[in-house]
Amino acid sequence: MKLLIINGPNLNKTGYREKTVYGARTLDEINSYVKERLEEEGISVEFFQSNSEGAIIDKIHSADAFGIVLNAGAYTHYSYAIRDALKCTQAKTVEVHMSNVHTREEFRNTSVLAANCVGVVCGFGAESYILAALALKKMYEETK
Ligand code: DQA
Repeated sequence: MKLLIINGPNLNKTGYREKTVYGARTLDEINSYVKERLEEEGISVEFFQSNSEGAIIDKIHSADAFGIVLNAGAYTHYSYAIRDALKCTQAKTVEVHMSNVHTREEFRNTSVLAANCVGVVCGFGAESYILAALALKKMYEETK
């Protein structure tokens, strides 16, 4: 059972940037933790990170997974191209954020992606990825 976790722009700087918002763990450390936790649940994970909108779109197009956990970073708030890409895949997608975007600047309160996702998880740090993955797994098992 394979899941794709996509991280967008600047998330490769997690652990170095805005530590009070995103924490001190690097993305590699978060990914190792998430991988281990999800393997316990029988989910194998492919991780992908890019700072480029087009690369994220290409990855969504070629997704070979039962679901996608997508932290599109700031693209969440304005990328209609990524929004459209989510309509090009059979894989159900959950939008994820480590921070609670609703308690931050006003522009972060808007998601143009959420309408093409089955759900949204935000505010739980690395746990946001795990909660999203487990929800996708349950949904997949119920519908297959
Ligand atoms: C983020 C929230 C976005 O608003 C921001 O641009 C990010 C990270 C999060 O994980 O909390 O880069 O997606």
